[in-house]
Amino acid sequence: METLFQLPPIWMAPMAGEVASAALVAAVSAGGGFGQLGAAYLTPARIGEIAADIRARTDRPFGINLFCPLPWLRDDAALDAYLARLAGWHAELGLPMPARPERFEEDFEAQLAATVAARPAVISFVMGDPGLARVAALKAQGFQVLGTATQVAEGLLLQASGVDAVIAQGFEAGGHRGGFLGAEAEGALIGTMALVPQLVDALDIPVIAAGGIADARGVTAARALGASAVTVGTAFLLVDECPLSPTYRAALRAAGDGDSTLTRAFSGRLARGVANRVTRELDGVALPAFPQPNAASRPMRQAAAKAGQADFISLWAGQALPLNRTPGTAAQLVAALSEGWRA
Ligand SMILES: Cc1cc2nc3c(=O)[nH]c(=O)nc-3n(C[C@H](O)[C@H](O)[C@H](O)COP(=O)(O)O)c2cc1C
Repeated sequence: METLFQLPPIWMAPMAGEVASAALVAAVSAGGGFGQLGAAYLTPARIGEIAADIRARTDRPFGINLFCPLPWLRDDAALDAYLARLAGWHAELGLPMPARPERFEEDFEAQLAATVAARPAVISFVMGDPGLARVAALKAQGFQVLGTATQVAEGLLLQASGVDAVIAQGFEAGGHRGGFLGAEAEGALIGTMALVPQLVDALDIPVIAAGGIADARGVTAARALGASAVTVGTAFLLVDECPLSPTYRAALRAAGDGDSTLTRAFSGRLARGVANRVTRELDGVALPAFPQPNAASRPMRQAAAKAGQADFISLWAGQALPLNRTPGTAAQLVAALSEGWRA
């Protein structure tokens, strides 16, 4: 199995949700980057199927990412209040009234077992510390194990748990905040420019930069800060192979840098995306903890994507979105980013 330094320096971020597809991951790995599957919302069976599909498309290595299980308390009163907020938007979309979800999240242990069975080169975790015993067990099976940090204290904890490298997720990053220490689970909001060198100085293991990198200049900057590789999410959302709904794609093409916002509105956990009616109308409103809103808002988000209503879908994307809105194919984006690594 490849060591970290045999992997290419340009990594596609794992992205859970509608873009978690074999075609995209395989296109990145086959195109000279390191593709990763965001498996957090997938059933164990789908993880196995998609991994087999990736293998059928390329013999290049790829990674799989999971959310560490977050402790949360079911709160039906808060959930019902959230559903009442969704009701008006359901009506606008012609959907039945929102109901309490039957299921809120997948079984983490079963997802991890499916991930191990899929034999990716890298297993990465976000939103928590997988812990010494789990990391040791995975490493003993030949996996490279990575954790995600949004502040130095998280990086030190992950290093103490034995991970092979730490992904430094800056404030600019699209999607959910990966932090797990601090008064609020989302932790610190430190920019990539400040976070990467601090983690590089504090840790003895490689640091991979994530957040706000969308073109060759960002890659060069991350390398100058001491990163051993870069993780790019948002720019890959717009490559040809990405199965983004036309509604989401059009909204990303239209958004400006000032439209980027951090919101809990769709999931209960802080995430960065393009502002829309839902983020604005739920701004400051108390919500039940993740993953309750995430499950409850899913029918609305899916229906809105089909109906062309970008105001009701989670338009996850980072601050660098406008930097690279026409990246072409995955291989073209990898090639363009790689120029920055060599510069
Ligand atoms: C649509 C989307 C989904 C994401 N899903 C995940 C995920 O499942 N797991 C994870 O570790 N990070 C996830 N992220 C965050 C990325 O790993 C990464 O930190 C981020 O995309 C880097 O910043 P950038 O978007 O500015 O390139 C997601 C990001 C986006 C845009």
